[in-house]
Amino acid sequence: MSDSQKILVSGVKPTGDLHIGNYFGAMRQFVSLVKEGKYKPYIFVADYHALNSIQDAEEMRRRTREVVMAYLAVGLDPKKVIFFKQSDVPAHTELCWIFDTITTMPYLMRAHAYKDAEAKNKEINVGTFNYPMLMAADILLYDADIVPVGQDQKQHIEYARDTAEKFNRIFKTDIFKLPEHYIMPEVAVVPGTDGQKMSKSYGNVIPLFASRDELARAVMSIVTDSSGERPENVYAIHKLIRSENELTTIYSSNAGHYQVLKEMLIEDLDRYFAPIRAKYEELKDDSSIVDQVLADGAREARAVSEAKMEQVRKAIGVS
Ligand code: ADP
Ligand code: TRP
Repeated sequence: MSDSQKILVSGVKPTGDLHIGNYFGAMRQFVSLVKEGKYKPYIFVADYHALNSIQDAEEMRRRTREVVMAYLAVGLDPKKVIFFKQSDVPAHTELCWIFDTITTMPYLMRAHAYKDAEAKNKEINVGTFNYPMLMAADILLYDADIVPVGQDQKQHIEYARDTAEKFNRIFKTDIFKLPEHYIMPEVAVVPGTDGQKMSKSYGNVIPLFASRDELARAVMSIVTDSSGERPENVYAIHKLIRSENELTTIYSSNAGHYQVLKEMLIEDLDRYFAPIRAKYEELKDDSSIVDQVLADGAREARAVSEAKMEQVRKAIGVS
């Protein structure tokens, strides 16, 4: 990695049970962006953000490992990425506190995520309210140039930019660089087994790391409508892994034979995901690989963020 390389920072929450909608809709594009080699990437598991909803130690540990294994399995190369856990790098929470002191409540009350939670009349915890400040710290510590996120996270990048500007202005410094968001190219929404958007909250998913049996069960449960020319919900998933040309032939020569088409889809999905699943199993069998990746990542991230914090502490007058 050369020093002139632009810096990419992104966090992934370990709120798992990943499905093929996540893979085709986000993970695949993310991994290929990182693979391009244009950026120096800092990728971390946002476990302290997830603590707002996962409040069970065993679950936190399991989901953290699962998300690391998932990203490694789909092709993130740990030699080219600084991959770490947010909680392993104390600068994130330290800087978050400093940002809290220069941030007003009305400003945070304008955050979409907060307003949505309010509208649902939830009892909102302070961590959820404060979410954008921890995220600003995540980003600004590493001088991020770009932050790849989904559309729903765009406002959080604005918060990071505002906070960088405000800090620089108050403390008469230029310590923090203003990051840009990078919205990943949209793919069509992947439908679930019931034809609605595939989502873990709808119970209509095809799991990303499904065994052959789980795959078969999920595909067989795809809702088919006997009135149309072809089973649209089966076709829409098939289209993700085979060309439309191939599918036209297959679907017209098996018109009306939903069972046969579903069996082909099972076969195709099984083949498509076999290498990813094999890699995942390998990581599961040897836990030392994940431990090593996270330890190496934490060491590098600590060094970079600590250097930044020294400047920050000096600028605010605590050192
Ligand atoms: P879920 O709806 O299962 O809770 P998330 O909201 O955690 O999924 O989604 C994480 C990422 O995966 C988002 O960037 C989202 O755009 C993408 N994604 C999730 N479901 C789909 C889908 N059915 N089709 C396309 N992309 C999806
Ligand atoms: N809020 C992001 C999400 O829900 C996760 C995240 C935390 C993040 N910190 C980040 C993303 C910093 C990009 C940069 O998906």
